[in-house]
Amino acid sequence: MGAAALAVGAVGLGCMPMSWAYSSSRQRGEESLRAVHRALDLGSSLLDTADMYGPFTNELLLGRVLKERRQDAFVSTKVGLLVGEQHIVANGRPGYVKRACDASLRRLQTDVIDLYQLHRADPEVPIEETWGAMAQLVQAGKVRSLGLCAMGARGGRRSGTRLHDGTIRQLQRVQQVFPVSAVQAELSVWSPEALETLLPWCEARDVGFLAAMPLGNGFLTGTLTPGQGFEPDDVRARHPRFTAEMMAANQPIVVGLRRIAARHGDGVTPAQVALAWVLAQGRHVVPVPGAKQERWVTENAGAGGLRLTAEDLAEVAELPRALGSWD
Ligand SMILES: NC(=O)c1ccc[n+]([C@@H]2O[C@H](COP(=O)([O-])OP(=O)(O)OC[C@H]3O[C@@H](n4cnc5c(N)ncnc54)[C@H](OP(=O)(O)O)[C@@H]3O)[C@@H](O)[C@H]2O)c1
Repeated sequence: MGAAALAVGAVGLGCMPMSWAYSSSRQRGEESLRAVHRALDLGSSLLDTADMYGPFTNELLLGRVLKERRQDAFVSTKVGLLVGEQHIVANGRPGYVKRACDASLRRLQTDVIDLYQLHRADPEVPIEETWGAMAQLVQAGKVRSLGLCAMGARGGRRSGTRLHDGTIRQLQRVQQVFPVSAVQAELSVWSPEALETLLPWCEARDVGFLAAMPLGNGFLTGTLTPGQGFEPDDVRARHPRFTAEMMAANQPIVVGLRRIAARHGDGVTPAQVALAWVLAQGRHVVPVPGAKQERWVTENAGAGGLRLTAEDLAEVAELPRALGSWD
C-alpha cells in the first residue's frame, strides 16, 4: 500500500483523449492502440483510464492490449461517475461500486486492477460507505490498491478556502477505513495549486500522486495556436484558458518553457520540460500526460530522462501566473 504500490515507469499514459473530452473526430482506435503499445515498449507502464471515458470504450480499447501484455502494464481505472444523455452523475452506492468493478475487469480483460480510484464522491452517500465497498474489492483480490481523484475540487469550492481543503477532509475520512495509495489531481506548470497542501499531505503519508493534465490540456506543449478554435465536444471549447484572448495572453508561459528546452539541447521540447517540472515535484509524483498519438507518447516518455537544474526550476517559478480561471 501507499506509494510503494506505484511501481511504475516515471511517466505514465493518460488514455482519456483516445475516447473522451477532446475532439471526437480525431479519435482513431488503431492509432490509439499503437500509442498504448508504444508506451508499454518504452516503460510508460501506468495506463490511466476510467469506466466513464467513452463511456466504456476507453477500457474496451485498453482491454485489447492488456489481453496480450498484462504483465507490462499497471492498470489504473476509476469508478463513481455515470454518463447520462445531458449530464454526468456521481454514484457511490456500495452495490453499484462492486458491479462497476466487475464490469471494468471484463472490459479490461484482466482479473485484477492495480489502482482503483474513486472518480468523484457521491454527495448522497457517505464517502466511508463507498470506500468500504472499494476496500472489500481489495480483500476479494479484484483490486490491488485504492486511489482518490481530487478533480471535483474546483466546482465545490467555498470562497476563502484553498482549492484542496475539501479533498484533504475526504482523504482524512477514507484513511480511517482503508489506506489510500494514490491521489490524482491536476498538477502542471500553469496549475500548481496542488503544491500548496495536497502534495505535502501525500508526501507526509507516503501516498503516491498522479498528476493529471500535466500538459495543461495541450497548451504547454506549444503546439496550439491562439484562436485556432476547438470542436464543440472538446473540453477546451468551454475552458476559460482556451479563448483566443487567453491563449494569446498566456503565451509567455510557453515561451519560457521553450527557452528552458533550448538550453537542454536540440530536440528537447516544451512538453518535455513541462513533464520534467512535474517529475521534479516529488519522488512519488507520476505525470499521466494524455496522448493518442505514438509520436507524443515517445516524446513524453523521453521526459523521464530530462533533469531540470535549479536554475530551470527557478525560471519556471518566475513565469507569469496563468490568466483565465474557473473561479
Ligand atoms: N481524474 C480526473 O477526473 C481526470 C480529469 C482529467 C484528466 N485526467 C487524467 O489525466 C490525463 C491527462 O489529462 P489530459 O489528457 O486532459 O491533459 P494533458 O495531458 O495536459 O494534455 C493532453 C493533450 O495534449 C496533447 N499532447 C500530449 N502530448 C503532446 C506532445 N508531446 N506534444 C503536443 N501535444 C501533446 C494531446 O494530444 P492528442 O490527444 O492529439 O494526442 C492532448 O490533446 C487524462 O488522460 C486522464 O487520464 C483525470
